[in-house]
Amino acid sequence: MSEFLNVKDLEYYYQDGDSRRYIFNDLNYNFEKGKFYAILGESGSGKTTLLSILSGMDTQTSGVVDFNGKSIQEIGLNNYRRNNVGMVFQSYNLIPYMTPYENLLIAMSITDNKIEEKSSVVYNLLDFLGITKTKANRLVTKLSGGEQQRVAIARSLSTNVDLILADEPTGNLDLETEETIVETFHLLAKEYDKCVIVATHSNEVAKHADVIINLSSGQKHE
Ligand SMILES: Nc1ncnc2c1ncn2[C@@H]1O[C@H](COP(=O)(O)OP(=O)(O)O)[C@@H](O)[C@H]1O
Ligand SMILES: [Mg+2]
Repeated sequence: MSEFLNVKDLEYYYQDGDSRRYIFNDLNYNFEKGKFYAILGESGSGKTTLLSILSGMDTQTSGVVDFNGKSIQEIGLNNYRRNNVGMVFQSYNLIPYMTPYENLLIAMSITDNKIEEKSSVVYNLLDFLGITKTKANRLVTKLSGGEQQRVAIARSLSTNVDLILADEPTGNLDLETEETIVETFHLLAKEYDKCVIVATHSNEVAKHADVIINLSSGQKHE
């Protein structure tokens, strides 16, 4: 069994008056490096909740999340987030009054991971995502949605992590742009050995995934 990211007997509920509302119970998954996972499910099925737990931003009511054989609680959620997880959101969540270059440098400044020659790493990563040096030095708000999302993906990679979690990353993009973003996630899994987990409504995204996790039915198809 792979030791990368393992979810055991995961349960999450919230208290609604006197009763517990279960979003899910008893989820068991092994996420591996080199694979692209799509989490599918209608709105409200718990996709964002699951990603929040996997990223250490929220905590399950029961069950365990192990990263490299150690529970993320034991690693420490702050440590884990800072050093092991790259996040991509539907609305990009870039700092709007800064350039792509500055957005990546800020992300790098809050990780403990060692990154040499930050400036050239930033330009190389942005270039890898198709953001030229000229665009890298423009305010992010001057870029198109697709470009902003590519900056956000570059940022998620800038801290040298193996785990990329993306919540509806193509929700604001047209089909053609969605395609390039999905190809990028696929490439990151296949060529760069990342573990990429994407929550999505989109069948287009799901088509490219190695593994589809359907939250509504709690089923996993390979
Ligand atoms: N702490 C909470 N209090 C009340 N409702 C919650 C809480 N956490 C999650 N929910 C509800 O749980 C459901 C699952 O939400 P979410 O994970 O955002 O689903 P998805 O991302 O699949 O649309 C939603 O109905 C949401 O409103
Ligand atoms: Mg959601």
